[in-house]
Amino acid sequence: MALGIDTETLRTLETVRARHGNVVRIRQANGREAYFINDPDEVRQLLVKNHARYRKGPGFERVKMLLGNGLIVSDGATWRRSRRMIQPAFSRQNVHRLIQLMVDCAQARATKWAAVAAAGETLDITREMSDFALLLILRCIFGEDYDTRIMASGENPFEFLSRDSARDLRVVLQVREVRDLVLDVIKARREEGASAHFDFLSMYMSATDKEGRHFSDDELLDELITLIVAGYETSAGTLNWAWFLISRNPPAEAELLQEAAKLIPDAGAVDQEALTEMTYTQQLLEETLRLYPPVWLFTRRAEENDVLTRHSVPAGTDIYLSPYILHRTAEYWPEPEMFRPERFGPDAEHKKGERPYFPFSLGPRRCLGEYFSFLEMKVHLGLLIQRFHMTLASDQDPELDLGINLRTRQPIILRPTLRDKR
Ligand code: HEM
Repeated sequence: MALGIDTETLRTLETVRARHGNVVRIRQANGREAYFINDPDEVRQLLVKNHARYRKGPGFERVKMLLGNGLIVSDGATWRRSRRMIQPAFSRQNVHRLIQLMVDCAQARATKWAAVAAAGETLDITREMSDFALLLILRCIFGEDYDTRIMASGENPFEFLSRDSARDLRVVLQVREVRDLVLDVIKARREEGASAHFDFLSMYMSATDKEGRHFSDDELLDELITLIVAGYETSAGTLNWAWFLISRNPPAEAELLQEAAKLIPDAGAVDQEALTEMTYTQQLLEETLRLYPPVWLFTRRAEENDVLTRHSVPAGTDIYLSPYILHRTAEYWPEPEMFRPERFGPDAEHKKGERPYFPFSLGPRRCLGEYFSFLEMKVHLGLLIQRFHMTLASDQDPELDLGINLRTRQPIILRPTLRDKR
């Protein structure tokens, strides 16, 4: 059976699960054995307790071409060292210092959208979300150097990332070019002294391992490119789906609007307390991530023999796990196709921990940017929903386009109208 990281594979895995149950052993077209695991306990055991027996699996070779040995693709001791060095940069305290940048990036969209609304035109929200999230992560990484050094030529040298969905050789070559540019920024920072800045670049540059060593230039470049790719595509995809779902669900839109107007009525005074209190927005985003988890398929390869709760996994076996499929299994999520943010409410019958839900993965390799991404998405939706009502330009359901990330095959087009208030 041929498995890949594509739309065809989703259909194959759905069929296999329906016919053969929660854990299915598959012989792949390349001769290698694979397990497709849909048992929530086994998923948890693999990702949390036994994670060290696995490395990243099929599909990651392609990502490696782009990200070198950065955190998402590295394994074993290299991954452990980098994770320890990088994790402190993502503390809540540090992320809170980036809220103002999140507000600025959302406000920049508002200015553009107001002109589109006034002209009665439509917005390619898919592209807008890519541009929003890419610009935000670049500003969070490079701080003031984004304007002075990265944009020195007048064009964003990273723009190809949000335009080119294929991870082909051309993209790899473009990444090489931007590595040179980033290396120049790093060198200039070294001369100035990194402590003059607060941004991810300076935090990554000052990070040390147990022996007190910093990242080498190559390691630093791999980690920065990883941060850009990990940090924009997933949030952009989630916001893309969130706008789609909001524009289809007037009661959800009304509740979102009411909460935002109460908690962040003024863009000049958005803070972490208000963002924490935005519980409905949080639920809406969690439900969006249930239906459309950007990383829809995880792959692993067993490095040694393992025994999960009910199955033995010989070394060399490939593993496929799909949050997309588990999040839509009726046994755990009744009427799974329905968009219901209240599933994640404090009064929900079952706490989410009791149901399989892992859009950010689980265990030691869990996403580092989860908190960052919720703040970014809450700031964005909270500010923009107060300015615009969005209507879908077409009533067709978007088709899925599945690669490393879950995207829409065609962009989602929305028509913004300015709200009366303000
Ligand atoms: C809605 C937004 C996001 C989702 C759904 C998401 C999801 C994930 C998932 C599923 C993984 C694990 C992948 C695997 O093990 O194969 C991951 C890893 C990671 N994510 Fe995110 N992510 C999001 C946003 C972000 C943001 C905004 C950042 C950075 C600012 C970020 C940084 C990372 C990093 C560095 C890793 C690698 C962690 C490791 O292997 O130790 N992510 N993310």
